[in-house]
Amino acid sequence: GDNRLQGYFDAVIEADQKIEPRDWMPEEYRRGLIRQIAQHAHSEIIGMQPEGNWISRAPSLKRKAILLAKVQDEAGHGLYLYAAAETLGISREELVGMLLNGRQKYSSIFNYPTLTWADVGAVGWLVDGAAIVNQVPLCRCSYGPYARAMIRICKEESFHQRQGYEILYTLAQGTDSQKAMAQDAINRWWYPSLAMFGPPDSDSTHSERSMAWKIKRFSNDGLRQRFVDMCVQQASVLGLELPDPELRWNAERGHYDYTEPDYDELMQVIKGNGPCNRQRMEHRRRAHEEGAWVREAAAAYAAKRAARVPE
Ligand code: 3HC
Repeated sequence: GDNRLQGYFDAVIEADQKIEPRDWMPEEYRRGLIRQIAQHAHSEIIGMQPEGNWISRAPSLKRKAILLAKVQDEAGHGLYLYAAAETLGISREELVGMLLNGRQKYSSIFNYPTLTWADVGAVGWLVDGAAIVNQVPLCRCSYGPYARAMIRICKEESFHQRQGYEILYTLAQGTDSQKAMAQDAINRWWYPSLAMFGPPDSDSTHSERSMAWKIKRFSNDGLRQRFVDMCVQQASVLGLELPDPELRWNAERGHYDYTEPDYDELMQVIKGNGPCNRQRMEHRRRAHEEGAWVREAAAAYAAKRAARVPE
């Protein structure tokens, strides 16, 4: 019965092995993975908007080509993740439907505007940097298809982070107004990037279960701290400031003390009241409508092929 199967499941998790699509798994485990993987996929797709915003205004052909490649990668990340979610027995249509009807969300970070070219650098360095800190542990998550998607995505994310860092480095070495533009972008993206890791552990509804199932390997606050420690050195190489006067090395803890992001703001943004939530969802809905003919054509073609008598 189920308790024998539960025993197998627990033994696989205990042994740090992988659960595969056809293995028995607790319904809670399946639903929790669909929730997280789908929202991860939605984040990748919506994340194309703030970045894509600057493709037509990139300052050089080189920067345009790099940004095009990055936005194209994000679309691919979304598709790998939707494919991983589908292995849990839910269709792409249902997942997209839950994004469009608000039942599922995407990362808070993409509800902030990219106001200047320096924002493309700040998004690469900070947002993709935070994504790497969050995604590297997910390469070891207990669900096979998710872990394998993460391994490939992390390789591409490191290019995203490096190109963003290089944009900021170039600006910081440029004219005073270029350096000021880079500093302004960091000032606006720093705290929303810290909030990306989620609410504090004390307010996290899924962490305990998710960590017991070895989906989440480190807590929200643990990864946030790792991200802060990583960024302090990188900011000093840039010669730019992180907008936190409380930031300082704590020798006892072996980490930097820092000012937490505004978690009420995070909750508001998650609820749909961020600076760009409406715009992001309108854009996504319009893209869905405009793409309907492509989906219909592909389905008609597939049906015709399927109906064709095999030669
Ligand atoms: N934005 C939106 N919702 C968030 C959030 C955020 N930054 N942080 C937490 N939440 C939501 C959770 O989804 C959950 O709500 P739900 O029950 O409706 O799903 C609620 O707040 C409570 O948070 P928990 O900590 O209990 O939730 P989780 O255990 O799921 O932890 C998480 C949140 C760390 C984001 C985890 O879901 C996770 O690791 N997800 C995979 C990574 C991911 O989604 N990254 C998106 C970043 S964008 C990206 O990677 C693209 C790159 O190219 C920049």
